Order: sequence, then C-alpha cells, then structure tokens
Amino acid sequence: MTKQPTEHLRYGSPSAIPAVESRETIDTLLSHRSCRVFLDQPVNDDIKQLLFAAAQSAPSKSNLQQYSFIDVNCSSIREQLIQMFPSIRWALEAPMLIFIIGDTHRTQEINRTKNHTFRWEQTDAFLNAAVDASLALAFMIAAAEGLGIGTCPVSKVRESSEAITKLLNLPRGAFPICACAFGYPQNETQSISPRLPQSVVVHRDTYHPIDFNEIDRYDETYNRVAGPPKARYPEKFGEPNHSTWSDNVARQTAVIERPDFRDMCESQGLFWKQS
Ligand SMILES: Cc1cc2nc3c(=O)[nH]c(=O)nc-3n(C[C@H](O)[C@H](O)[C@H](O)COP(=O)(O)O)c2cc1C
Repeated sequence: MTKQPTEHLRYGSPSAIPAVESRETIDTLLSHRSCRVFLDQPVNDDIKQLLFAAAQSAPSKSNLQQYSFIDVNCSSIREQLIQMFPSIRWALEAPMLIFIIGDTHRTQEINRTKNHTFRWEQTDAFLNAAVDASLALAFMIAAAEGLGIGTCPVSKVRESSEAITKLLNLPRGAFPICACAFGYPQNETQSISPRLPQSVVVHRDTYHPIDFNEIDRYDETYNRVAGPPKARYPEKFGEPNHSTWSDNVARQTAVIERPDFRDMCESQGLFWKQS
C-alpha cells in the first residue's frame, strides 16, 4: 500500500512531505524551534550522558573528533558569564549550559607526543574543527528535542571571546564556537520559524543566481507567520517602517560584530599573528 504524503510547516505554509516508513527523526527535525524560556527543572545526568553520546555520534572529519563540550554548572562561572552578557541571562541561567568548543588542541598534542610536527594549513585546520563541532552540536540539539528538551545556541558569548577563553581555561588550539542552553520548555506553543524555500537554497547541478523575487516572497511569508522581526541596529540604521528578514541580514552584516575574534584565534595559536 502506498503511504499518503503528510504536511509540515517548515516553509511557513502547509507543505507536503513525502511519506516514509519511519518519520520520528524527520518530525523532530521539522518541528525544530529555538527555546528561550525554560522550566525550573534540571536535566538529569542520565539524559545529559545520552545527549553527549548523541553529539559524539555525528560524523567527523577523518574521525578526528575535534570538539569538546564544557558543561558549566559552577555558580560563580555562571555569574561571571551573566555579568559579561546580561542580555542573554535567560540562556546563562538555563538548567543545562554547554559550551561548544572547536578543539585542535587534542590533535596537536597527540601529534606532538608522537614526535611529529603539526603542519596543517591553518584555515583548513580551523574549518575542520568548526565543522566537527557544529555537526556534534546539531546532533545534540536534535537528540534533545526528540526528548522534549528545548535548546538554543548562543553565539553572543563570542563577543568577548578572549575573556571566555580565559574563564573556561581553554588551551592553545581550542576556541569557543557558541554556548547552548538546554531545558524543558516553559511554552510548548512557540511558532516554527519559516525557512527559505528550497528553490533558493537547493541548486541543481551548478550554482544558480539569486532570484530576489523569491527572497521578497520569503520576507512576506516570514512576516505573516512569525511577525516582522525586531530590526537589528536601529540606533545605527533607524527604525524601518516594515522590518524584514532580508533587511536584517543586510543590517547585521553591515556591522563588525566580533572585532576581537581574530585576535583570540591568534592568541590561541589557530592563526598566524597579522602584523
Ligand atoms: C551558531 C548559532 C548561534 C546563535 N546565537 C544566538 C544568540 O546569540 N541569541 C539567540 O537568541 N539566538 C541565537 N541562535 C538561534 C537563532 O537565532 C535561531 O536558530 C534562528 O533565529 C532560527 O530560529 P529557530 O531556531 O527557532 O528555527 C543561534 C543559532 C546558532 C545556530
């Protein structure tokens, strides 16, 4: 018997999803929404262990597994984080707070103890670790959401990356990618944030040019489903009459958000010092 396609809301209006035998994983992924308000209920150690195992199940470049997780429970470290980033108190007070670290330190130490010299091209080495860590984070998020745990990555913590590196005692070769808040959601009814249509992000055979009509249509869909986004940097660019996703893309990328990030990478030995 052929299964009937069902529907999901990932693109802002009901879209058919092909029928497949087991939908559990796909349903979890298609229902993803970030969670920023948590119940005051801990995530127990068994679940944490499971989530780390899920994260480590992600593929990694040459199985090098170039990531580390820092599970921050210590109240004094949490307090220092809140002082540094008061606007994301909600994340820094989450029941479970994990820092996702791109980690070439372990690789470099293994290389050194086996009497070799680490010769990888720096940008490639950095990218490999960033990709491994991001995939691990994505697996961890999916696993958590499959268990009804809400999640939200926060890259805001990279705005003081030197200070974070010191606070978390990161060795040379390790760098913060983001933190991620986990906890049981206080509000289950958060809407799904629509994504760009597949016609924009899926290219057939070779890269095709951007169709700005599709971007305009996405802006409309987004505003209809999620409401107009809060305009980024109004103090610099003014309050728009009608804020949109693409307007925010332009505004956000017109500001240097983390001017010290390169310096942190240099002091962590990830990139050569620029003169
Ligand atoms: C690497 C990364 C960093 C993020 N940083 C923040 C952040 O600092 N603050 C925040 O509120 N959300 C942050 N987010 C969440 C995104 O804003 C969110 O994923 C995006 O708006 C799409 O919404 P959705 O996750 O609900 O689908 C981050 C997400 C990622 C993947």
